[in-house]
Amino acid sequence: EKGTYPHFMLKEIDEQPFVMRKIIQEYQDENDDIKLEEDVRQAMAACDRVYIIAAGTSYHAGLIGKEFLEKIAQVPTEVHIASEFSYNMPLLSEKPLFVFISQSGETADLRSVLVETKQLGHPALTMTNVPGSTLSRESDYTLHLHAGPEIAVASTKAYTAQMAVLAILAVDTARAKGLTLEFDPLKELGIVGNAMEALCDQKEEFDQIARDYLSTTRNCFFIGRGLDYFVGLEGALKLKEISYIQAEGFAGGELKHGTIALIEDGTPVIALATQEHVDGSIRSNVQEVVARGANACVISPEHLTREGDAFSIPTVHPLLAPLVSVLPMQLISYYAALHRDCDVDKPRNLAKSVTVE
Ligand code: M6R
Repeated sequence: EKGTYPHFMLKEIDEQPFVMRKIIQEYQDENDDIKLEEDVRQAMAACDRVYIIAAGTSYHAGLIGKEFLEKIAQVPTEVHIASEFSYNMPLLSEKPLFVFISQSGETADLRSVLVETKQLGHPALTMTNVPGSTLSRESDYTLHLHAGPEIAVASTKAYTAQMAVLAILAVDTARAKGLTLEFDPLKELGIVGNAMEALCDQKEEFDQIARDYLSTTRNCFFIGRGLDYFVGLEGALKLKEISYIQAEGFAGGELKHGTIALIEDGTPVIALATQEHVDGSIRSNVQEVVARGANACVISPEHLTREGDAFSIPTVHPLLAPLVSVLPMQLISYYAALHRDCDVDKPRNLAKSVTVE
């Protein structure tokens, strides 16, 4: 089923523009408005706080989802790592809604939180790529990601699908609350799909970046601020899980509080700079690491690109920039793993779905 692709991961990266189109189609009604089940709408309207529960890449999508829900829909939102939540439950609000984000719908750490919160009588919504999965069956509501089967252990198209559906949910909730928005998510997701396609056509450039920055390195850092920080966390996870390069994502402003001590001559630092309001600050963080010898690779959208940046990505709505800026992360990780002769689709010590706690 890989067709002409050498790996599922590459195929799944390439499928992202189609997944965006599929999501638009599935979540659009005949008047071009958002189509969502009424009970999901009501659950969103009835809650006073959303608790997103997830693991790994899905947790990283949750971090972006919190920004969408708070900035677009003004719904207070917390994001929790599933395996931590069970043992360290925070003080809950009066009317919580639990949102479980899981590609597979089978992750045991999430299921144990679901069982626990159901016992407390709280409603649950699962966002999954597998509607018949355990989490979907045991939740009150399901939102389907429509990404198609994801085979590679490294999650790619499910992550962008999760963010797309979270954006749609946030906009729908905002509209139901009567908030006026300049933001048509379905139209914007169409633009995102085109941007993804343009990036998928530039694979040789990411291959080259992986050669230039990562072919011999032992470690690599990802920096960003705000949404870019969260995408950096995902970039680091992608890189470490398939290339075994030790990689970490950091908030640009935290560097000076300790992390900068790790920068040596030639240390690769991948910096994401897609958010205009923090552009000056992330640029000075880049200068700080370069001054200590880092090999900085800045990725910025066309309208913010400066001389010396390594790669320019198409400009999309700034809140949706993560859906586009993660593609370079995925492709650079893919080529880094390939250059190091790693088993891209089945990295060591990992399973596609983690069904034990
Ligand atoms: O199926 P899920 O989304 O619940 O899986 C959660 C994580 O195990 C998963 O995202 C994992 O981190 C991936 N291998 C990352 O690429």
